Amino acid sequence: MDPVATEGSRMACEDAFEAVWSRARGYRGWLTEGQARLLFSCALGAPQPARILEIGSYEGRSTVVLATAIAGTDGSVVAVDPFVDDWKYGSPTTRRSFEAHIAQAGVDGHVQLIADYSTAVRPGWSAPLDVLFIDGKHDVVTVLDDLRWARHVRTGGVVLVHDCFSSVGVTLGVLSLLRPGSRLRYADRSGSLARFEVGSVGLVDRGRLLAQLPWWLRNLALKLLLRARLGGVARRLGHDSPYDPY
Ligand SMILES: C[S@@+](CC[C@H](N)C(=O)[O-])C[C@H]1O[C@@H](n2cnc3c(N)ncnc32)[C@H](O)[C@@H]1O
Repeated sequence: MDPVATEGSRMACEDAFEAVWSRARGYRGWLTEGQARLLFSCALGAPQPARILEIGSYEGRSTVVLATAIAGTDGSVVAVDPFVDDWKYGSPTTRRSFEAHIAQAGVDGHVQLIADYSTAVRPGWSAPLDVLFIDGKHDVVTVLDDLRWARHVRTGGVVLVHDCFSSVGVTLGVLSLLRPGSRLRYADRSGSLARFEVGSVGLVDRGRLLAQLPWWLRNLALKLLLRARLGGVARRLGHDSPYDPY
């Protein structure tokens, strides 16, 4: 391949990421820049036209990043979110903010919203997926159900799980991937956003997933310290932020 053309396309991707991140970082949400980069590169690297399914969209920070990565193709992002009305994860205006952000980013032609619970949508779903992003309800029962969406992801596809090692419910759910017959191989992570590849899973892969548990315990300890207003102790442990580790 022509190295000049390759460098040109790498820079175009970088510019596209910078442009979407400068927009999306202004929406309320928890996704960090590193995590947005990981989502962007997974969407970009999927065979095109890609079908991406996102569980948990909130104001659209991750949705806009995923949709921008596939904007020059016939690909689509299916965004599944009931827009719950609770103290932390939404209000009656969240859906309106989501729709406005998708339109302002010019990706409404690539986003299909299903305003419902992932657990209600899953039993009727049959289409194959290239990328699955899980960032919905964080209790273990829902996470176990959300991981079952992965059976629709083709071999070689990607499953991304947010708060993978920073939440009790998500981590307990993800530990189910240690069972025999699991098809989700832990690859790497950006903060608490973990990337899994769909394929065969060996003992070494299971060991690499288990090796993240000390980091999970550290994050739980940090969250407890922050709840107990012991931010100074958290800082001494290397957590230089008033917010939970994500
Ligand atoms: C952490 S926020 C998602 C953040 C978003 N991915 C972003 O990057 O800004 C969690 C979202 O999950 C949604 N949610 C809660 N239960 C859900 C479920 N069962 N299925 C899908 N979404 C759910 C909430 O309405 C909320 O918008």
